[in-house]
Amino acid sequence: MVKLEKLFSKMSKRMKSSIIRELLRDAANTSIISFGGGAPDPETFDRNALAEVAQKVLLDEYKVSLQYGATEGDPILKSEYIKILDERNGIKGLRQENMLITVGSQQALDLMGKIFLDEDSYAMISHPVYLGAASAFRAYGPKFITIDLEDDGMNINQVEDALKTLDKRGEISKLKFIYTVPNFHNPAGVTMSLEKRRALIEMARKYDVLILEDDPYGELRYEGERLPNIYKLANGEGVMLLNTMSKVMSPGLRVGMIVGDEQIVARASLAKQGADLCTPTLTQRIAARYLQKGTIFNRIAQSAKIYKSKKDRMLRALKDYVSIDGTRWTKPEGGLFIWLHLPEEYDTMEIFSKAKQVGVAYIPGSAFYIDDRKSSNLRLSFCLPTEEQIEEGIRRLGKVFKS
Ligand SMILES: Cc1ncc(COP(=O)(O)O)c(C=O)c1O
Repeated sequence: MVKLEKLFSKMSKRMKSSIIRELLRDAANTSIISFGGGAPDPETFDRNALAEVAQKVLLDEYKVSLQYGATEGDPILKSEYIKILDERNGIKGLRQENMLITVGSQQALDLMGKIFLDEDSYAMISHPVYLGAASAFRAYGPKFITIDLEDDGMNINQVEDALKTLDKRGEISKLKFIYTVPNFHNPAGVTMSLEKRRALIEMARKYDVLILEDDPYGELRYEGERLPNIYKLANGEGVMLLNTMSKVMSPGLRVGMIVGDEQIVARASLAKQGADLCTPTLTQRIAARYLQKGTIFNRIAQSAKIYKSKKDRMLRALKDYVSIDGTRWTKPEGGLFIWLHLPEEYDTMEIFSKAKQVGVAYIPGSAFYIDDRKSSNLRLSFCLPTEEQIEEGIRRLGKVFKS
């Protein structure tokens, strides 16, 4: 038998199994109330309309929908999405060449890693970070520069200090991008303020660094004022926008997109060709025809009501059952997550097994730090459980924390 260790590439050895998947695999085996995963509530899926569209796409458009497609993506889907970005986000003048359709935005993150990162590169990320992005980037071996996340987004002074330091060391060209989730951050639920968005653009320009804006939750705003995308504020210069149909249509379709500079899009397309030739033509065309119905934003408004109600129930339950001194939590205006800070002496990884014993799961904060540090924080997602389960789950968690 060939010794496997000598076969596996350096890249494959850098890959780590997601702690979230492992924790949730356990949790899924029992009748647990799970605040763990970030999967949308299936009741928000517009299944009847999607079924109707899918049937037509399969029967009437089989020559396209069951065939290979262009690596760059379905032109009809791209035009529909370009229209949405124009009408809802005020992003004007995009052309087909500015967009690549990907297999979810997870593939977009991987492609960004593939085309930008070498082993001597730096990638700037927030701490905590969306774990899927960190894992995608980590495979390419960069060094991470981590920036604390505050209630109004990344700590901008730290960003500036880090940029200055790299510049002084003559290494600024090795910093390939600043990765940020400005709206309803996963896991922290926080939104980057307008001032910080502007400051980030200014700094990125000064040091000639690219911003990767990952925005899966922007349309899931339940209250408060909508903020412009970083991409829009920067007039598209020096920013790549990553988006997805996962949280607003269905993650099962696996349709995401990269928007921005056409040379970067072309390079990412080249990288995608070797990975999968194209995003499934069937789900792209279903998404395109569904968008053409023009009902998606009504549907999202309905979903937002469901999520807002769940979020409010969780916030109320936290107030009622988890008011230990030194405890606080974020109050998101959208998205799917609440980030709970327990007093520093708590280790939420240790408490996880105790919570499981009383039938509740969450994601310990350490999962969202690339150095696997101990953490007194945890992520609670309110999207899947019912409101009654939310109340009961938080009540049980409160008891565990107090004990
Ligand atoms: C911040 C962020 N980016 C990207 C993704 C990946 O989403 P998808 O690949 O389903 O589009 C997620 C999923 O939860 C996410 O939270």
